[in-house]
Amino acid sequence: MEIHITHGQIAKLKKKLCRKRVLIYGTGKFFHRIYKDFNLAELNIIGVVDRKYESNRFTQGDFGYKIVHLNEIRKQNADCILICLENPYRAETQLKPYLNKNKIIALNKKSPLSSAIYNLSLQMQKIKNRKNFVLIKQDGTKIYNPKIKNLKVNLRGENPRVEIYEPFEAKIQCEISCADNSLVRIHPYNTYQRARILAGCGNTIEIGACTTIGEACFYLSRTKHTKVKIGQDCMLSSGIIIRTSDGHKISDKDGNMINPPQDVIISDHVWVGARSMILKGTEIPSNCIVGACALVNKKFKEENCIIAGVPAKIVKRNINWDRNLPPGDN
Ligand SMILES: CC(C)(COP(=O)(O)OP(=O)(O)OC[C@H]1O[C@@H](n2cnc3c(N)ncnc32)[C@H](O)[C@@H]1OP(=O)(O)O)[C@@H](O)C(=O)NCCC(=O)NCCS
Repeated sequence: MEIHITHGQIAKLKKKLCRKRVLIYGTGKFFHRIYKDFNLAELNIIGVVDRKYESNRFTQGDFGYKIVHLNEIRKQNADCILICLENPYRAETQLKPYLNKNKIIALNKKSPLSSAIYNLSLQMQKIKNRKNFVLIKQDGTKIYNPKIKNLKVNLRGENPRVEIYEPFEAKIQCEISCADNSLVRIHPYNTYQRARILAGCGNTIEIGACTTIGEACFYLSRTKHTKVKIGQDCMLSSGIIIRTSDGHKISDKDGNMINPPQDVIISDHVWVGARSMILKGTEIPSNCIVGACALVNKKFKEENCIIAGVPAKIVKRNINWDRNLPPGDN
């Protein structure tokens, strides 16, 4: 079997694993090869075996790691379980009854060594990031890696962070994906339906208290550190797109970029109408309304205005708005 892994990758992996307790389910030939070839003896590994416990010759010799039976998994307090079997799906079913809640399982798809190591490293990253998704209760208590109904959180790479303050409600499926060093902070009393936040490396998005989202997609730059700031008591309608970058580079004839990513700032108590597109560099002051289907791409400075059209301009001044339905409306 070919191994497409560099020594640098292995060194990095070992560094990640060195303080973790890793359970290996499937300490057969396949794992033994990984163990030997990559000299995993330095790591804190515990092998797990099931019915082959007595007969498997790979579990009987002294390989430098402890072997336990399936039903002893819980006692091991492992940070991670790596499944090292040809058929990981079967293994997962077998393992399930023995696992603690939220225990992490790495699957090596059809067993090439490189993918096993890669998966292990991904899992270790997940373990590292486990405390980076936090729900802050009203009394200040923090719950790490919480389960929130209708909210899927994906943390990738180094140090992404999601902070959500209660009360928070996701009424219909929402998703937050964070890459390296990005931060998503949602203040209390937010209610969302179909909100999707994609924060690229080093980007920040902060959404003020009492803000509601009907349906919105936030695309933060993948290449540059940008931020989206939404104030308090904002009302984002449905079909809204907010972007801090165009996603692709436009350059002048000398190759200089002419469309760099920029922050988007929406101040307090702004109503963003349905199907609006808010582009890089936009600023919307407090108490404004963005009309339906507007394309906003400028910094507006005047509060209490209606901003509408393509591209958006001020169409009315000295207005304000509130969430209550007009009388007779439903
Ligand atoms: C922005 C909005 C609230 C303004 O309503 P209004 O105060 O009654 O404004 P008016 O209809 O008097 O319009 C004022 C001017 O702005 C223009 N305008 C209003 N909304 C516009 C829009 N979405 N796009 C382009 N121009 C618009 C009007 O044509 C009018 O122009 P004119 O003076 O040249 O005739 C309303 O037009 C709108 O877009 N509503 C949709 C809100 C929404 O998305 N709700 C979903 C539930 S959260």
